[in-house]
Amino acid sequence: KAAVYLAASAGFCFGVHRAVDTVYDQIKEGQTPICTYGPIIHNEMVVADLKQHGVMEIDDEVQLSGITEGTVVIRSHGVPQRVYEQIKGQGLKLIDATCPYVKKIHQIVKEKSAEGFQIVIIGNAHHPEVEGIMGWCSSPAIVIGTEEEAQKLVESGIQKPLCVVSQTTFNLKKFHKLVEIITQLRYHESAILNTICNATEERQTEADAIAHIADAMIVIGGRNSSNTQKLVDICRKECESTFFVQTFDDLNLRLVPSRGIVGISAGASTPNNIIEEVSKQCRKTILLNRC
Ligand code: F3S
Repeated sequence: KAAVYLAASAGFCFGVHRAVDTVYDQIKEGQTPICTYGPIIHNEMVVADLKQHGVMEIDDEVQLSGITEGTVVIRSHGVPQRVYEQIKGQGLKLIDATCPYVKKIHQIVKEKSAEGFQIVIIGNAHHPEVEGIMGWCSSPAIVIGTEEEAQKLVESGIQKPLCVVSQTTFNLKKFHKLVEIITQLRYHESAILNTICNATEERQTEADAIAHIADAMIVIGGRNSSNTQKLVDICRKECESTFFVQTFDDLNLRLVPSRGIVGISAGASTPNNIIEEVSKQCRKTILLNRC
């Protein structure tokens, strides 16, 4: 028996859809020139298509300072508050495509840091979303991504109440583990906020369940996409034959078993056409091998 199981949650999440549509809307409206601050999403194919439509990418504040006219679209991952000020200060049109779930974290850390809480972000310090969140805190935030780092925070004997938030795409089980360590610091006023977005939670849970029964698992997504990388890690724990591909061209169909279950999941920034192509070709291969 052979089958291909495609995760229902695979592909663009709400925030990514919204950000990509925002840029294409600006193109349709004839706005020019258009820049995105950072890649609008972590997917090389989408970014390349936008480039073909004349959309430029700015990677940092230095590059931004060289822009003298046009529209700047802020990516779904968000940016620090000072970037908003810089865009406005330079007289540019600002279109904010920050995912509302990320925006909510910006508001939380802004308010809580102003109230004197020590902001702790559970996530990857070098991810643009976390860099953006840090840029909304009125005092330096602490970023924690491992159990060792959480333990170090506990041992530091920090004296402030904490406000703990999470990168939206962080692994849920790992978040709980790190919170368990951090809460050894018992401050009554501390606030622990699970800001992992539902889309991520659903995607991870579904990928985990499919990988559990699959003989081979294919995860599709951008090389720099952190949520895709997390899916790969989750699937590998359940299914040794987990393959990470950006497009169908990266997939070696000879490695796809002709019997058993082939599972497919994809990161939040993977366009539907790529997912459909991979799933169609896997089904075809299985059918051919059966004949
Ligand atoms: Fe937003 Fe969640 Fe997607 S935070 S960008 S809806 S993964």
